[in-house]
Amino acid sequence: MEKAFTFFLLTLFLHMASSVMTQTNITTDQLALLSLKSQIISDPFHFLDKSWSPAIFVCHWVGVTCGSRHRRVMSLNLSNMALTGKIPREFGNLSFLVSLDLGSNNFQGNLPQEMTSLRRLKFLDLSFNNFRGEVPSWFGLLHQLQFLNLGNNSFTGSIPSSFSNISKLETLNMKFNSIEGQIPKGIGSLINLRVLNLKSNKLVGFIPMSLSHVSRLEILEISYNSLQGNIPEGIGNLHNMKVLSLQVNQLTGSIPFTVFNISRIENIAFTENSLSGSLPNGLCNGLPILKGLYLSTNKLHGHMPARLSNCSQLQLLSLSENDLTGIFLSFECLDQIASCC
Ligand SMILES: *[C@@H]1O[C@H](CO)[C@@H](O)[C@H](O)[C@H]1NC(C)=O
Ligand SMILES: *[C@@H]1O[C@H](CO)[C@@H](O)[C@H](O)[C@H]1NC(C)=O
Ligand SMILES: *[C@@H]1O[C@H](CO)[C@@H](O)[C@H](O)[C@H]1NC(C)=O
Ligand SMILES: *[C@@H]1O[C@H](CO)[C@@H](O)[C@H](O)[C@H]1NC(C)=O
Ligand SMILES: *[C@@H]1O[C@H](CO)[C@@H](O)[C@H](O)[C@H]1NC(C)=O
Ligand SMILES: *[C@@H]1O[C@H](CO)[C@@H](O)[C@H](O)[C@H]1NC(C)=O
Ligand SMILES: *[C@@H]1O[C@H](CO)[C@@H](O)[C@H](O)[C@H]1NC(C)=O
Repeated sequence: MEKAFTFFLLTLFLHMASSVMTQTNITTDQLALLSLKSQIISDPFHFLDKSWSPAIFVCHWVGVTCGSRHRRVMSLNLSNMALTGKIPREFGNLSFLVSLDLGSNNFQGNLPQEMTSLRRLKFLDLSFNNFRGEVPSWFGLLHQLQFLNLGNNSFTGSIPSSFSNISKLETLNMKFNSIEGQIPKGIGSLINLRVLNLKSNKLVGFIPMSLSHVSRLEILEISYNSLQGNIPEGIGNLHNMKVLSLQVNQLTGSIPFTVFNISRIENIAFTENSLSGSLPNGLCNGLPILKGLYLSTNKLHGHMPARLSNCSQLQLLSLSENDLTGIFLSFECLDQIASCC
């Protein structure tokens, strides 16, 4: 009995000790930010020099916003400040961070693994920097993430399959990196995704059929990769699609006619692939707000679409470098076309 009681006290003590050790406060946030500052090797406009000082309350530092309730650092916005530096491991201690915008700077190096502790993050913009290393799979643990922009960096590796676990994700932008491998099938479980931009990477393999389950998708931009195979038929079921850009890949087969039935679509860009087959006759009938149709440099054959007068908003049309026949009769009806190539 006495033994059991001693054990109980010991357990209680250990529990309290560990909770004291893991307790963090605004001082933790300040240390994490000072540690970030210590890794900034160039701050030409003196954004941090002046205000990031222990003499000033951390919630008043440039770019820092604290929560009104818990007074912890909730958002950090250092975008477009021409900063050069690295993210230190201590940055992972900003456990209340919801929004982080480091876009358009010159941050370098790998993202520290400790950032996996930023479990409250909803918004993460690291675009237009010089981050490198493999796209970390720990992004999959940031379950609150809605916006992730890694565009214009030097990330390598493949898209981790753990990304399928970021179920609240609405925007995934990884354009202009050196990402290899296939687009994981699991991306089809991101049912909240509206924007998927993987332009200018080194992706191979097929466009996953699972994408046709992502019914909220508005922008699918996967041009300038090495994707092969057919355009999945199911793409035409994505009724919210506005921009469908698959240019400069190695896609084959015919264009599924369902694509010409997505009534909200504004831009269809399929140039420089090996797409074959013909185009539907009433191409514009299901596309009332089409503004750009880019199909040049493919292997399309058959007749030019005879009537484009239902494309009343068409501004850019390119059909050249195909095997299309017939005279393009509808030009006179299309005064609004600004450029044709
Ligand atoms: C933060 O916590 C540390 C110990 O964990 C303590 O020494 C410090 O006084 C606390 N600071 C504030 C501002 O509460
Ligand atoms: C960060 O600040 C810039 C410039 O003020 C602004 O354009 C941008 O929207 C801000 N980012 C966030 C996430 O609020
Ligand atoms: C912050 O993180 C570092 C490394 O990740 C750790 O060693 C340190 O104890 C943490 N500091 C505070 C104040 O929590
Ligand atoms: C993004 O990166 C691409 C490729 O490196 C480059 O062509 C493009 O100009 C970049 N965009 C900006 C705004 O720097
Ligand atoms: C997704 O999360 C679940 C539960 O946390 C985990 O078991 C699973 O391994 C994760 N999937 C991937 C691909 O990381
Ligand atoms: C296009 O939509 C119409 C009306 O919703 C439907 O009847 C037709 O079968 C569809 N065509 C294609 C090729 O999906
Ligand atoms: C334009 O679309 C309407 C409705 O879809 C259709 O009835 C009409 O025949 C089309 N016009 C042409 C010239 O194709």
